[in-house]
Amino acid sequence: MLNIALFGPPGAGKGTQAKRIVDKYKLVHLSTGDMIRKEIANGTELGKMAESIINRGELLSDEFVVQLIANSMANNRGAKGFLFDGFPRTVAQAEILDKMLEKEGAPLKGLICINVPYPELKRRMLERAKIEGRADDNEEVIERRFKEYNDKTVHVANYYKEKGVHKDVQGDRTMDEVFDSIVSILEDLQ
Ligand code: AP5
Ligand code: MG
Repeated sequence: MLNIALFGPPGAGKGTQAKRIVDKYKLVHLSTGDMIRKEIANGTELGKMAESIINRGELLSDEFVVQLIANSMANNRGAKGFLFDGFPRTVAQAEILDKMLEKEGAPLKGLICINVPYPELKRRMLERAKIEGRADDNEEVIERRFKEYNDKTVHVANYYKEKGVHKDVQGDRTMDEVFDSIVSILEDLQ
C-alpha cells in the first residue's frame, strides 16, 4: 500500500497535482476540503455544521475531519493506497492518521510539501474565484486561511520531518514541472 499526503498552504496546487498523481498511481484521492464542500452542496447535517466555518476560512474540528477520513477509508477497503490532500492539517490529526495507518500496517511514506510564495498563492486563488466561485476565495477569507495555516498547520511539516518522511517540492513552476518533481519522489518511495 502506498500512502502519501500532499501538504502546503492554500492555493499551492494540492488538488491540481492530486488529480495527476491518482491517475498515474491508481491511488484513492481523499481531500477533506472536497468532502466538506460536497456535504454543503448536498445540504446534509454535516454540511450545515461546516458551512459557516469553512466560509470564514477557519479549520473545522479535528473530530469532524477525522470522522470524514475514517469513513472514506472504510469505504475504500482494498485500495492500492491513499493520497491525502489537505489532511492532516494539525499535529493532532497527524497523530490520529498515523494510528489509523499503523493498523493497516502501511504508514505514511511521504508528506510532499508544495512550496509557493505568498503573492503567487493569493494571485492563484483570486484567479480561481473568477472561474470556480469558491466561497472562501476572496481577499478577507484568504488572509484568514493563511493565518490558520501559519498558526496550526505548518507544525505538521516538522512533525513528519522528525519521522524522516517529509519531502519539499518547489511549487512556483509549471504544473508539469511540479508533477515531474513529485513523480521522481514517488518513484524513490515505492
Ligand atoms: P481545502 O479545500 O483543502 O483548501 P486549501 O488548503 O485552502 O487549498 P486549496 O484547495 O484552495 O488549494 P490547493 O492547494 O488544492 O490548490 P489548487 O490545486 O486548487 O480546505 C478548505 C477549507 O476546508 C479549510 O479552510 C477548512 O475550513 C476546511 N478543511 C479542509 N481540510 C481540513 C482539515 N484537515 N482540518 C480542518 N479543516 C479542514 O490550485 C489553486 C489554483 O492555482 C487553481 O486555480 C489551479 O488551477 C492553479 N494552479 C495550480 N498549480 C499551478 C501552477 N503550477 N501554476 C499556476 N497555477 C496553478
Ligand atoms: Mg484543494
